Amino acid sequence: AETATHYMPSNTSLDSLKLAATHCRACDLHQCATQMVFGEGPSSARIVIVGEQPGDREDIAGRPFVGPAGQLLDDALQTLRIDRDDVYITNVVKHFKFTERGKQRLHKKPNSREIFACRPWLEAEIATIRPQTIVCLGATPASALFGRDFRVTKQRGEVIATDWCKRTIATWHPAAILRMPDPDRRAQMQQQFVADLALALDR
Ligand code: URA
Ligand code: SF4
Repeated sequence: AETATHYMPSNTSLDSLKLAATHCRACDLHQCATQMVFGEGPSSARIVIVGEQPGDREDIAGRPFVGPAGQLLDDALQTLRIDRDDVYITNVVKHFKFTERGKQRLHKKPNSREIFACRPWLEAEIATIRPQTIVCLGATPASALFGRDFRVTKQRGEVIATDWCKRTIATWHPAAILRMPDPDRRAQMQQQFVADLALALDR
């Protein structure tokens, strides 16, 4: 199967990676999405935060985590007095996947083929940045970095060494918190989210 490796530039600065990813055709997701949404942040970032894939708002803006999930993430970072501009924020998959229902575009989970195809971009971002800590938001990045057996429900908040980074940790996806119907449970997940980030970031 084709992967993004085919489109990898020899210069792996974040700018040239992003430019190259703009032309990526390693899976079909580029066909319906508005644009490729690459990671955002300085190459000097000590922290890399990894989401699943851009959502509706991100697809239009061309930037990761600018919608409701991004607002929850921003609030958590602000609580911990972390400047979003110092953090590198990215996704496992760089194009938005959706189904149309009327005028709405509903998020669809990327499948394993798409995740596999796109993974070289994330690997290159991490190899270039060499962060102290990687935070996985939800099951998609957690499976990509820890392996398929990882369970966010059981193993979130544990700092684990992986091939990717000495300090790798997973927590809830902010969208999963927003979707939680039970308000008490939602509040608890939000607290856990902030606590996991605090642990990951040594705050
Ligand atoms: N959810 C994600 O996983 N990534 C984004 O960029 C936005 C929402
Ligand atoms: Fe390439 Fe990833 Fe976009 Fe697929 S989703 S076309 S692999 S950048």
